Amino acid sequence: MKYIGVDDLDIDLFEGQYEVPLGVSYNSYVILDEKVAIMDTVDATKTQEWEKKLEAALAGKTPDYLIVQHLEPDHGGSVEYIMGKYPNMTAVCSQKAVAMFKRFFDEDFTDRIQVVKEGETLSLGKHTLQFLMAPMIHWPEVMMTYDQLTKTLFSADGFGKFGALCKEEEDDEGWACEARRYYFNIVGKYGAMVQNLLKKAANLDIQQICPLHGPILSEDLGYYIGLYDTWSKYEPEDEGIFIAYCSLHGNTAKAALVLADLIREKSNVKVSTSDIARDDLHEAVEDAFRYDRMVLCAPTYDGGVMPIMDDFINHLRIKTYQNRKVGIVENGTWAPAAGKKMREQMEAMKGVTIIYPIVTIESTVKSKTVEDLAELADALLA
Ligand code: FEO
Repeated sequence: MKYIGVDDLDIDLFEGQYEVPLGVSYNSYVILDEKVAIMDTVDATKTQEWEKKLEAALAGKTPDYLIVQHLEPDHGGSVEYIMGKYPNMTAVCSQKAVAMFKRFFDEDFTDRIQVVKEGETLSLGKHTLQFLMAPMIHWPEVMMTYDQLTKTLFSADGFGKFGALCKEEEDDEGWACEARRYYFNIVGKYGAMVQNLLKKAANLDIQQICPLHGPILSEDLGYYIGLYDTWSKYEPEDEGIFIAYCSLHGNTAKAALVLADLIREKSNVKVSTSDIARDDLHEAVEDAFRYDRMVLCAPTYDGGVMPIMDDFINHLRIKTYQNRKVGIVENGTWAPAAGKKMREQMEAMKGVTIIYPIVTIESTVKSKTVEDLAELADALLA
């Protein structure tokens, strides 16, 4: 198997929304056997660079199969081009992908598609590819591929990570940090599907995982699979308290940071804070899922809650945030309403327990506010 993926350092936002300061990789692979198979393509902005790598790997051979595990444009963006270049190549994909071919591509490839179902195999010679349907990880047509010879799982978006491969050494927070941000923001809603996939994968002897983003994983696979198991069960990965705050004039921010200090004074529990208006909101989503407790701190705004906090809570709702303890701190000068709004929104989520007291800051942090925050800190640590 040869890696022929490309790094994208030109991208500003992945999927038009996620910050990727270290870029992203679009992974693609070639398996050279009696028959030659290409495993996925890359984003259309990188077709030429990918094609050069593909040609070098093929060394004059002609590919027989294009295994299309996922048709989202970051992977399917060069399918139409490469199918045109190799007119005898067959695309291998799930039934759900067939309709997407027609939606994405002008050319009709119907006669050149081989549909595979759960568990079906395709022999390339020594290599036998076994297909595992993986719907909603993270589109409905997704499948994964297990190479029985090399015991490699080609895992589509699963086990993917933000960050170009050429920047891996600069990512000193390790695999989990950007893999977690990727998982909860992109795959997070579909934990049940990931659990199904993990159950199927448990029956396979996997020695190597080749995702469509990020590094190939070949050592300590139990670590990565264990994290995916925790994440997809919506269980907290770490004990700790994440404080998400926004602030109009700095007073709510001050209260959030006082609360963080009080917790640190009272315990060794890890505390993480984020100014969600200034820091990466998607990293805040990641931290909300990472820890077992969270505190939301926001001012009242137009009779409700400051819009960025509404946005953050909506992100959590979409990603099915659940089974966590949540504290609330509101601010309001004449008619505090943010606390009630945040409480109602969080109580609508499965298994969320509100930790009392809900603290009300009446404009600025006073000694009474500190007393109330200390009471909330005690309740969070109880
Ligand atoms: Fe990497 Fe769902 O695309």
